[in-house]
Amino acid sequence: MKTLAAALALVLAAPALAEDGAALFKAKCASCHGPDGKGEVPMGKALKVKSLLGTKLTAAEIEKVSTDGKPGTKMMAVKGLSAEQHKAVAAFVKGLK
Ligand code: HEC
Repeated sequence: MKTLAAALALVLAAPALAEDGAALFKAKCASCHGPDGKGEVPMGKALKVKSLLGTKLTAAEIEKVSTDGKPGTKMMAVKGLSAEQHKAVAAFVKGLK
């Protein structure tokens, strides 16, 4: 039973993380980056946000921008997310096409 529970946890954990990333992006990033990451929303246009689609940044770099902000821009550290959530949202952004 223990093994079954562990296997189930593994199977369930991966999609949960991906889903979390999408939900977190909508809640915390979409106001500026747009729901699709293209930045085609009034706030995104005002702040001259570039499209995040096909970004050259690595997931780790995206995670750092999300956690600490991007120096010299209006991209501030995003508050209210745990380290795990920054990781999940970064993985989601990395997967945007
Ligand atoms: C208040 C508006 C705002 C919010 C909210 C916001 N961003 Fe940004 N973001 C910006 C601006 C402005 C830039 C700088 C311009 C650019 O690089 O597109 C930026 C840049 C970035 C970059 C760097 C892109 C590059 O190529 O250098 C990443 C990655 C990023 N944001 C991810 C996120 C994530 C993930 C979230 C949510 C957890 C988020 N942002 C929330 C405004 C915002």
